[in-house]
Amino acid sequence: MAMLKIARMGHPVLLQQAEDVPDPTLPELRRLVRDMAETMLDAQGIGLAAPQVHLPLRLFVWRNGSTVAALFNPVLQPLGPEVETAWEGCLSIPGLRGAVTRPRRIRFTGLDANGEAVEGEAEGIAARVMQHEADHLMGVLYPMRMTDFSQFGFVEELARAEEAKR
Ligand code: NI
Repeated sequence: MAMLKIARMGHPVLLQQAEDVPDPTLPELRRLVRDMAETMLDAQGIGLAAPQVHLPLRLFVWRNGSTVAALFNPVLQPLGPEVETAWEGCLSIPGLRGAVTRPRRIRFTGLDANGEAVEGEAEGIAARVMQHEADHLMGVLYPMRMTDFSQFGFVEELARAEEAKR
């Protein structure tokens, strides 16, 4: 196990199109998934995409309840017209939060860490995390999805403002 260095916004790897992974079962990829999971948990994140650890591969890990799931070569499709706006953060943009509007429900396909095909539906926070991570694989960071920049700020300041309203 090893901790990986997380790229911060401004690093060109975060703007690259990542490439499909033909075989997730290769030992170096199994190690990578473990290291990404460890790195994400240590940083108290809920998702981490391979480009964030300087590897332009179509892979992300995310916290699914109490487990960490890996998804290779994900394809996401919105289900229905419903959208939702919620705060997002990103380990590549430390200290900041922004409100992002995204489809509320999605359908996803991909390969799990054993190279098995997976498919399913997700909604709410799970759908949001998966969309945020899938965006990383296309070189998209959450501020690029934002429309209202009055809803963007430092976590500490936003918490203070929230506190003052009570
Ligand atoms: Ni992110």
